[in-house]
Amino acid sequence: MTSAALAHAESLIASIPDFPEPGVLFRDISPLLADAAALRTVVDAVIAPFAGEFDVVAGVEARGFMLAGAVAIAAGVGMAPIRKAGKLPRPAASVSYALEYGTAQIEMSDDLPRGTRVLLVDDILATGGTLRAGQQLLAELGLELAGTAVLMELASLGGQEVAGPVHAVFRV
Ligand code: PRP
Repeated sequence: MTSAALAHAESLIASIPDFPEPGVLFRDISPLLADAAALRTVVDAVIAPFAGEFDVVAGVEARGFMLAGAVAIAAGVGMAPIRKAGKLPRPAASVSYALEYGTAQIEMSDDLPRGTRVLLVDDILATGGTLRAGQQLLAELGLELAGTAVLMELASLGGQEVAGPVHAVFRV
């Protein structure tokens, strides 16, 4: 992947003001996902620092799924979904985490052998609460964190202090 290809991929991420509520600048990765070359570029960039170091990719619902499946196929490994509470038929571990207002909960099934090396993937690192909870979930299930990666880090929100080190393909 070249820096020009990465720059083009980043240019496809749309910034939408006041969504989902006033004052929030929403980063919409849909145009990037729709571009075959850009998708391949960012998938390769997610994998690069961890090549050969993970056995499975875990993605966080919902937008993390969009990347995690593609990363898993490109790396030749499987994919494990981390789901919002109440979606899995056989949740084996649950972790609650704080949102701006209230709490959320994520869950995972016990499908992987203890010691499996997991690359944890999501689309955006904001406050870091989601990925920190994902890391705790993996630890509860006896899985080894091979690394944590996102497409885009919103650096001003301090997520690296909460869930770091997180490999971010783009940093704004
Ligand atoms: C978004 C995003 C990350 C998380 C980042 O997910 O996809 O998972 O927020 O925020 P944080 O670093 O402050 O925890 P959201 O909960 O909006 O769910 P979605 O993927 O289902 O849209």
